[in-house]
Amino acid sequence: MKKLIVAIDGPSGSGKGVLAQKLSEIFHLAYLDTGLLYRAVAYKLLQNRSSLGKITEALKIAQNLKPEDLCIPALRADKVASFASKIASSMDVRTALLKFQTDFIKNALITDQGVILDGRDIGTKVLPEARFKIFLTANLEVRAQRRHKELQDRGIKSIYSDVLEDMRERDRRDCERDESPLIPAQDAYVIDTSAMQINEVVDHVVRYISKRSGATG
Ligand code: DC
Repeated sequence: MKKLIVAIDGPSGSGKGVLAQKLSEIFHLAYLDTGLLYRAVAYKLLQNRSSLGKITEALKIAQNLKPEDLCIPALRADKVASFASKIASSMDVRTALLKFQTDFIKNALITDQGVILDGRDIGTKVLPEARFKIFLTANLEVRAQRRHKELQDRGIKSIYSDVLEDMRERDRRDCERDESPLIPAQDAYVIDTSAMQINEVVDHVVRYISKRSGATG
């Protein structure tokens, strides 16, 4: 049977991570959360107390990244996310991380029934050949509310107005950078999740993929 290749893109808080994880389980696909790659580089730089100016150091880290570097819980912190989005504007870092992603895809297509990646440039740059490209979006306030609630549920102190401003700033950087900006691929299926629960989004996309691929979840 033909391998299933799925690209998921969208801004933070759009639900893309949960969607990709669920689809990987349902369709038995190898899954890579590519945001973790940028976060891992940012985290290591922060640990080394390096400034963004040290792009050569960022590049060295990106070139030597190992799968186990993606498993650190501290990568989830907003401070790391914000630094990651700054590093993500470097073409050299992106090229090094693209190599990690293409290696992952090559292996996955040998060992698994298919592959799913989520990020910002998957449909446009990393998997332009993907059979399914889903671009999730939602308005800024809704996404900030989701993030604020998630932090509170995890017992982390959170101020909504700060979350909103951080997200606005990260959106601006991710959408306006020259290299691989966050933008739907021309052939992407764009879904606005502002008024949807995540389980509705998952059900909708599972039906969409099943109907068109013959794959069953
Ligand atoms: O998806 P995330 O929030 O974990 O991503 C963190 C940052 O990494 C994001 O703000 C921009 C960058 N990123 C990117 O530029 N390209 C990707 N494919 C994934 C993430």
